Amino acid sequence: MQNMRHYVIMAVLVVVVAVLTYSGLNSLGLMPVAASAQALPIDWLFDLQVKAMAFFFAVVIVPLAYSLIVFRRRDGDTSEGEHIEGNTPLELTWTAIPLVIVIAMGYIGASNLAQIRAVDPQAAQIKVTGFQWGWRFEYPQGFTSNTLYLPADQQVVLQMESLDVLHSFWVPEFRLKQDLVPGRITEYRITPTRVGDYKVRCAEICGTSHAYMEAPVKVVSRADYDIWVADQTAQAQAAAAASAGQPDAGRGRTLYEESGCKACHSLDGSKGVGPTWKGLFEESVALADGTSVTADEAYLIESIKMPGAKTVEGYPPNAMPSFTYLKDGQVADLVAFIKTLK
Ligand code: CUA
Repeated sequence: MQNMRHYVIMAVLVVVVAVLTYSGLNSLGLMPVAASAQALPIDWLFDLQVKAMAFFFAVVIVPLAYSLIVFRRRDGDTSEGEHIEGNTPLELTWTAIPLVIVIAMGYIGASNLAQIRAVDPQAAQIKVTGFQWGWRFEYPQGFTSNTLYLPADQQVVLQMESLDVLHSFWVPEFRLKQDLVPGRITEYRITPTRVGDYKVRCAEICGTSHAYMEAPVKVVSRADYDIWVADQTAQAQAAAAASAGQPDAGRGRTLYEESGCKACHSLDGSKGVGPTWKGLFEESVALADGTSVTADEAYLIESIKMPGAKTVEGYPPNAMPSFTYLKDGQVADLVAFIKTLK
């Protein structure tokens, strides 16, 4: 009867400590807002695990602290402690219970993953390219964007590709994270549910400017999305028509800012990851192999399309990805822009 009293007190204390631990962890508010359908099962599982952790923390800590205090040695007590050797029923119990818990968690995890990966055959496809150091998004309507626009409440599947090294696509509010692997296409399937502005950041250390490898993500209503797509399609057609004509330094500057050139090439003469563009046109450029070349149009075009062909002295080889996706007209626009940088 005396023993029973200790068990009852400890059971009550376990419940109290578990509840306090869980509500304490919960009040930290570490999670950003949940903005995708996939975030719901993930957050549900995360919450279940925090509850389990709070409970097991209490199960370990309460009997330990209780025993230290209640069963401590009294003054004048010099007797030996009770000698206990094995307890088969107890050992079977503490093997069976964790086994059941692990199997149950495995089942819950697998069905949770199935929910997260559920495929909607109507999902829109967007191509994502990651490169040192930026993101580009290509829409099936034939235009590219530096902001990832997504319609709310529709599943999209991002087909992701890297131009150079490993990157990782991560929008914390969507909860999912997926690596981009050179030479392979990886998929990221998401159903945004919350209109708002988010940010994709790279979650795989990928070189000097890894920390700045971000792009805006805008989740908009279906109607706003359709308007934006129509607008971008019209702009892309107008740009294609225009670049069929004369090269334009203004369009070149926009490309410089939006296609990733800016990450490595300064306009003010300072040395970046790559050589500055200031005063570059018609300069004599010293190459790593000891020769030199005049930075004429042919050299600039080659350096944009095949950066590995000639390495400038003082810079590492193969540091720059090939910008082969740029149309000839766009390369001409970039060259026209470089010519203006006296
Ligand atoms: Cu890309 Cu880090």
